[in-house]
Amino acid sequence: MKKKVYIANSIPKYVEEYIGRSCDYEIWDGSSKITREELLKNIKDVDGLIVFGHKIDEELLNAAPKLKVVSNLSVGYDNFNIEAMKARGVIGTNTPYVLDDTVADLIFALILSSSRRVVQLDKFVRDGKWEKDIERSHFGLDVHGATLGIIGMGNIGEAVATRGKFGFGMDILYHNRSRKLQAEKELGAKYCSLEELLRNSDFIVLMTPLTEDTKELISYKEFDMMKNTAIFINGSRGKTVNEEALIDALNSNKIFAAGLDVFYKEPVDKNNPLLKMDNVVLLPHIGSATGKTRDEMAMLAAENMVKALCGEKPPTLVKEFKDIV
Ligand code: DGY
Repeated sequence: MKKKVYIANSIPKYVEEYIGRSCDYEIWDGSSKITREELLKNIKDVDGLIVFGHKIDEELLNAAPKLKVVSNLSVGYDNFNIEAMKARGVIGTNTPYVLDDTVADLIFALILSSSRRVVQLDKFVRDGKWEKDIERSHFGLDVHGATLGIIGMGNIGEAVATRGKFGFGMDILYHNRSRKLQAEKELGAKYCSLEELLRNSDFIVLMTPLTEDTKELISYKEFDMMKNTAIFINGSRGKTVNEEALIDALNSNKIFAAGLDVFYKEPVDKNNPLLKMDNVVLLPHIGSATGKTRDEMAMLAAENMVKALCGEKPPTLVKEFKDIV
């Protein structure tokens, strides 16, 4: 009998067909984001779940007693309760590599738009306020030749560093759990402590995964260490930053600006003070959101699912499950 998969997000038809050749499946109609309640209702008898963002915790595992594989449609897997999944013999996969360059491009969009006030000045022109030469208060900061500090030097961090080094002649600092000797050799990247990075960088890019160790890694103390001309970019997860501390840093000009693709709560609350601030560029978590990359992520998530349910090793099994497959 074929294994059964529930697909909780919309994916390209050809990816659905690929899954259908090996498994039975049902798919959420995609007209809106699936609610938690609907998700729990629809996974009662499934062996596999393809999903983005929903917490894989005791409650979900209890609702899906046959579940064996969760295939995340994202590289981040902070939605996994690893211990609970392991206790039930459920494995998890993610979608690394295929999105690295796309996310790195977006990080540079945030770097350039926040330093040169692109969004603020676009609004200025649209509002009909461009009547004479712009004032000094509208001037920005140079990106070329500046120092780029990357916290979390994984594949995406390295892709950001490559753009900074070869595209903009930037000096690269990085902070990571382990040294990246190749990046040091090829990009001249300098490994340093978090404090050294925060004190010396003009652009601080946070790319670390969200874990117990990185939750609110950047808070009041860390913003105090930054230059008052620093620009802070978050492309990881919102909870890696204390958002109140960020708001305080932007309000009190402790830093020059920020560019955010992620928020503590997503979608962001309509009354979040960040929405009223000029010195921050805000995006709705679109790091990997190009058609080509999202299609490649969907295909990789599907391959992970099919291989795992057919008893083969999935191509991108999350490292915490490596010892049980
Ligand atoms: C990921 O894949 O984790 C990204 O944040 C999604 O855009």
